[in-house]
Amino acid sequence: MDQKQITDLIQQMTLEEKVAQLLQLTADLHEGTQDQSQITGPMEEMGITGEMVRASGSVLGLSGASSIIDLQQEYMKNSRLGIPLLFMADVIHGFKTIFPIPLAIGCSWDLQLAEKSAEIAARESAAAGIHVTFSPMVDLVRDPRWGRVMETTGEDPYLNSLFARAFVRGYQGSNLSEDKERLAACVKHFAAYGAPEGGRDYNTVNMSERQLRETYLPAYKAALDEGCEMIMASFNTVDGIPASGNEKLMRGVLRDEWNFDGVLISDWASVREMVAHGAAEDDCEAAYRAIRAGVDIEMMTPCYVQHLPELIQSGRVSEALIDEAVLRILQLKNKLGLFEDPLRGADPARESEVLFCAQHREAAYDLAVKSSVLLKNNGVLPLDPEADIALIGPYAGQEDILGWWACVGVKEDAVQLGSAMQERLHGKLTIAEGCGIDTMTPDQLQKAVDAARKADVIVLALGEAADMSGEGGSRTDIKLPKAQLELVKEIRKLGKPVAAVLFNGRPLDLHGVLDEADAVLEAWFPGSEGGAAIADLLIGKANPSGRLAMSFPQSVGQVPVYYNTYNTGRPMDPSKTDERYVSKYLDSPNEPLLPFGFGLSYSDFTYGELSLTSHEMSAEQPLKVSVTVTNTGTRTGIETVQLYIRDITGEVVRPLRELKGFEQIKLEPGESRTVTFTVSEEMLRYYHSDLSYSSDPGRFHVFVGPNSRDTLQGSFELV
Ligand code: GLC
Repeated sequence: MDQKQITDLIQQMTLEEKVAQLLQLTADLHEGTQDQSQITGPMEEMGITGEMVRASGSVLGLSGASSIIDLQQEYMKNSRLGIPLLFMADVIHGFKTIFPIPLAIGCSWDLQLAEKSAEIAARESAAAGIHVTFSPMVDLVRDPRWGRVMETTGEDPYLNSLFARAFVRGYQGSNLSEDKERLAACVKHFAAYGAPEGGRDYNTVNMSERQLRETYLPAYKAALDEGCEMIMASFNTVDGIPASGNEKLMRGVLRDEWNFDGVLISDWASVREMVAHGAAEDDCEAAYRAIRAGVDIEMMTPCYVQHLPELIQSGRVSEALIDEAVLRILQLKNKLGLFEDPLRGADPARESEVLFCAQHREAAYDLAVKSSVLLKNNGVLPLDPEADIALIGPYAGQEDILGWWACVGVKEDAVQLGSAMQERLHGKLTIAEGCGIDTMTPDQLQKAVDAARKADVIVLALGEAADMSGEGGSRTDIKLPKAQLELVKEIRKLGKPVAAVLFNGRPLDLHGVLDEADAVLEAWFPGSEGGAAIADLLIGKANPSGRLAMSFPQSVGQVPVYYNTYNTGRPMDPSKTDERYVSKYLDSPNEPLLPFGFGLSYSDFTYGELSLTSHEMSAEQPLKVSVTVTNTGTRTGIETVQLYIRDITGEVVRPLRELKGFEQIKLEPGESRTVTFTVSEEMLRYYHSDLSYSSDPGRFHVFVGPNSRDTLQGSFELV
């Protein structure tokens, strides 16, 4: 349809039909709504009538080509004006083929593979009838207590922005109308949901507007600049007002400043939750604040359908606001070609052909290899395939390695580490769980110790359960569960080489593991091919190349800890630990246990001298920074060369370093490569106290290295 046909269509709609387009329900609530007597339970409580359901605009959480075809056809039969349903779902890191969790993907620093994972997720879910995915989630995080850090790509605005763009490109492709195997993406959760006080999910977010713009908003903006079709409001307050009713954020920034004219959807019940927040007297006020803020779709609560008609009749809300929301929704349906073809990509034959196909699982394997991070290795890895090995720990068994938000992935389909090692090792492999996630029996322990005694090398497979992170999964204790720390200690007493593999959804306090084991490989939740990828990394068939996208703290007491901090007026000099009146702890170093950007490899990379084309630059005259990197090891490996910049003095204080570029290079043994970065004036801009965004002349340091800590340093002046 063209624009005029859409606006004509809106003219024909009754007010109730318009308002119902703004309602999104789960599919089960659509069943049996042919007559009012069927409206029971939550629907009745919500006061939603059968005709509201039949006129509602979209469905969340349903997938399966035949189910969607049936519902759409049923719906179209009853739709007076032939307006099709939109089907949306949480396809976060894969649909049936599950990729590593996004925090792991963030550690791959591989934007092409990230884009490919989104494209594959789109192809699978589009065949299963889905039109929109509630992804990418780009909330910047600095607090590993929060359960949803697993869903982000980490603590850096620049890296998050690049991944946001890559995921949007992968989901949407270049022509959403033509390519039925793609999805509309929905960037979330706008805004700053990843900064809840205490790392407690849904908790208050408090920060200056400048901090919000400098650190938290860039990745949402990047997704929208990449053409993301939809955005989701977050549960939290932003400067005291819940995002779902925050006119300054939604009308001011999103619509007026950023000119975003796509669909804004609430989060699950986040419109009605304004009442609980204390930002609305009742559902009617919640509807009033949300529609004025420009929330187009209300997810799973009835404030709009119940109260917008009366708000319009009373004149408190102009019908133009409803028309605006309906127009955005119909435009999205039109862009997806649903008026011409309400079934779009839903295709049972294609569904059974593409879901979990070998080619997709290969991509999941590749990404799992690249997302794993080698945190320590004093030589025990890679394993000798001829050695007798004991695989011990809860993840030696059948724990879920898909992680939270695994869509329709089947955890039993995932390749487990034990079976993958069985296939790959020629020596004797003994498997003993030793303990559960956080339970241990004497018999379990004894069997594990016996197995370990007979082995040359021990691999400990440890971690959090999949549901110890994710939504509603915040923890105040971010260590491994006690039973597992106990297991490490007991196994360590045997004095044999120990390599630990970690399956977890957040940076952990690794005391008791990193100091005890001879090697530690961070596997995160590696997805459908996780066991195969980890086994290949352990035996050296693959070479670890992941780099941490989020700092690992010394302890939860240090949180929030992140690399791009300010210096303070009393920075601690690590060489003078006896100084008292400096910014320090009495009982912990200031540095994280493992810094942002950190990761080891089976290769050794050495950096030559840092060279700058000049020590002065201007907007017209950028400068170049080069370094030659050599693989002095014996194996081909991938190095992620990182560029950081520090603005020594600003009108507001500036971070000690900020990631401004990186390049992944693959080097054969003995091979050297010169990596060159261009430093532009745009890179040096920041938000001043008056929120103007510009660079200032002055001194800068530039850092290049394998992570945010161990870097070469140069300096230059912006004139
Ligand atoms: C959940 C999540 C959001 C998800 C939505 C629909 O509460 O906060 O990320 O997309 O509801 O499932």
